Amino acid sequence: MHDFFRQHRLLLAPMAGVSDEALRTLCREQGADLTYTEMVSAKGLSYANEKTRHLLHLAPAEDQVAVQLFGHEPDTMAAQAAWIEDEMGDSLAYLDINMGCPARKITSKGDGSALMRDPELAVAIVGAVTAAVKHPVTVKFRRGWAEGDETCVEFARRMEEAGAAALAVHGRFAEQLYRGRAEWDAIARVKRAVGVPVVGNGDVRTGADAVALVQRTGVDAVMIARGAEGNPWLFAQAKAALAGDPEPDAPSAGERIDMARRHARLLFERQGRNIVRMRKHAMWYMAGLPGAAVARERINACVTLEDFDRVFDELLECIRDHEARG
Ligand SMILES: Cc1cc2nc3c(=O)[nH]c(=O)nc-3n(C[C@H](O)[C@H](O)[C@H](O)COP(=O)(O)O)c2cc1C
Repeated sequence: MHDFFRQHRLLLAPMAGVSDEALRTLCREQGADLTYTEMVSAKGLSYANEKTRHLLHLAPAEDQVAVQLFGHEPDTMAAQAAWIEDEMGDSLAYLDINMGCPARKITSKGDGSALMRDPELAVAIVGAVTAAVKHPVTVKFRRGWAEGDETCVEFARRMEEAGAAALAVHGRFAEQLYRGRAEWDAIARVKRAVGVPVVGNGDVRTGADAVALVQRTGVDAVMIARGAEGNPWLFAQAKAALAGDPEPDAPSAGERIDMARRHARLLFERQGRNIVRMRKHAMWYMAGLPGAAVARERINACVTLEDFDRVFDELLECIRDHEARG
């Protein structure tokens, strides 16, 4: 997959409840080369759960997406991976297996980062899924499970041997959740240990961070998660920085509100009633703007697209007043 990642260097990470079609559309427009679906339950798919299947829908502007599966039963994972491949055809870039999610409700079932504690099972899953599909299969994992016990290098070797075509590494331990800083040197150690492409992930918040991550670790691609929340422009900034070009200016307050409006519209078109999901996005877009503290409460009461538009109008007015006052 080295060729693939030479052309896909900036990736929007899988984010449950966040990286849906709306955010993916906006990040692609700003320069993300590839996006991941939210994590998809293999078990949920095996029950033909409609909500789970919905996660596989592409936005109209998307040509391809990477689908991330989670689960711990090799046979179920393999069967559902084959089903996804059949359903999606060329719109599937590759299948990724989640071995990094630290949420208790996931790890208590043996899914996500719990698989880092059971490398034999992780190997069996990768073996079963790669045997079941023609598309490349990748694995996303963390620095290790227990804080201070770095197992990612050995784990990476095992995943490569089992057939993984690329690896994405988030430089935190599962027990750390999102505390502390991602250790980019751990990602560098994985990169040196394997021959398949490695995607680096953790704490990329600016274009300069993307460049620093590549320089420090030698990774083939950069994956961004929280930095893109309320900030799809990060991809344009990272793209310019990686190309050695000057970074575009940060968006103005008006541009941030325009983007939030579009985001709400896209969510409404694609998710309908699920537009309440826009509340957290709206908070992220508004963070630090004049009037944001007052708008926060109003946003939390928004239920319809019109509700959001009204709050955005008010906020824009508040910003204009603020600017007029100098
Ligand atoms: C709200 C949220 C949801 C996430 N969901 C997933 C997921 O479904 N699958 C996954 O592999 N990682 C998930 N992650 C982890 C991110 O993909 C990423 O590894 C992590 O946030 C570190 O990158 P960052 O520092 O750029 O945020 C999630 C993170 C957040 C904040």
